[in-house]
Amino acid sequence: MNQKIQLYYKNVFTESVGAEHGISPDELDELKGPIAELTGKMEQARKRGVVSGAGDTDRRIEFDDIPYRDLPYRNEMMENVRDLAGRLAGKYENLVVLGIGGSALGNIALQTALNSPMYNLRSDRGGPRLFVMDNVDPTQFSETIEYLEPQLDKTLFNVISKSGQTAETAAQFLTILQLLREKGLDLTDHIIATTDTKSGTMRGIVDRLGLTSLKVPQGVGGRFSVLSDVGLFSAAMCGIKIDELLAGARDMDERVRNTDVMKNPAALYAAIQYLFYRKDKRLSVMMPYGYQLKDLCDWFRQLWAESLGKEKNLAGELVNVGPTPIKALGATDQHSQVQLYREGPNDKVFTFLQVESFRSEVVIGDAGDTKELSYLSHRKMGDLINNEKLATEYALLASQRPCLTVLFPEINACSVGEFIYMFEVATSYMGGLLGIDTYNQPAVELGKLATFALMGHKDHSKMAEEIEPMRKPDEKFLI
Ligand code: PA5
Repeated sequence: MNQKIQLYYKNVFTESVGAEHGISPDELDELKGPIAELTGKMEQARKRGVVSGAGDTDRRIEFDDIPYRDLPYRNEMMENVRDLAGRLAGKYENLVVLGIGGSALGNIALQTALNSPMYNLRSDRGGPRLFVMDNVDPTQFSETIEYLEPQLDKTLFNVISKSGQTAETAAQFLTILQLLREKGLDLTDHIIATTDTKSGTMRGIVDRLGLTSLKVPQGVGGRFSVLSDVGLFSAAMCGIKIDELLAGARDMDERVRNTDVMKNPAALYAAIQYLFYRKDKRLSVMMPYGYQLKDLCDWFRQLWAESLGKEKNLAGELVNVGPTPIKALGATDQHSQVQLYREGPNDKVFTFLQVESFRSEVVIGDAGDTKELSYLSHRKMGDLINNEKLATEYALLASQRPCLTVLFPEINACSVGEFIYMFEVATSYMGGLLGIDTYNQPAVELGKLATFALMGHKDHSKMAEEIEPMRKPDEKFLI
């Protein structure tokens, strides 16, 4: 069995899905030059070790925001996280991550992929229960806290925010601060903050309160930060082998440095997605056949959307580009989405995630005298789900829908590290092909500022006046 994850791309070509809906080897050939050039530029930027130079267009073109590429090599970072997790082992029953977006999705993805679906309920789990509060829903928040309150002295909060200004995380953080103070608990025993090393609101708070802190590395944006302290700490606390995660990422790095697009899975994935984007297949569905992979798809959805959805290209021209990432869970969503995927508009490209060997297996029960179901009798559930993947791919191909597959030999820390790194680099390639700045997210700002304004932030009162009339619905349009 091949031990590395692999990309299977046969079913994107015209031979599989017809001339109208497939791509040709020649089209892929045309991207060989641009991909080699992008690979070279990324390598140069890595060697220079430059970090973010906001506003400096030339440097942005040179991929100056790619320090994420070197995270798997930061042994000291990994050792620090492991030491801290080791020192805290056995001290806490619960670990609560406060964060949102790139400061939460990676934590959730690692936990779902690498620990049991029943982790929080198991007495033999490898660390504290993990709760990731990636929202400000009052019911979710209050009822989680209600559950935790009797064990607050055995609960650790990891607040993660690069900026410290994110309203959702700030609200969660303030609520927890007050609760811990009311209970007379020492803040330094119950909060670890992961934030920017030098600047930002959270950095100031950490220094003032004397909290233990972990780092969001310089130049690494939230959605590219899972392989830093941001994602590694909760993973290490919960018994995930973070050294293997980073080893997997390093293995993938060897592969995605290859200037030959046909030997570089990240470049090939991006090239294929780019060609389909140009052919008006602008919806990109990721469909994992494995429950453990479902939150990695959410992580990827943010990475792809926030990095690639851009109004302007690097030359400042209006382009409004960006593929829309969609998540569908196999086999569940066969019974929800596949009707649309086969007979609806042919505007999508599909990426299946397939697992060759599952961590646990189920042998389906004996059909006995239930003869109608005997085809399932004593078969492995893993075979059923993989056959369902093949059946769905077959059905999609019958409707000329292009399909890719990422094959996991098994889901472990190494293969998950490979996957994360491959898709981070694929995002960089895709951004390069689209000619955009992959690493900023200017469009997220307006909503953030509007939230500040509506919540009464003194610096945004003018915006509040502008939005306020929208608060009361126009009765004419209310039925
Ligand atoms: O990827 C990103 O940059 C964003 O999703 C951020 O992670 C998210 O907005 C949270 O930001 P912060 O970590 O500053 O609270």
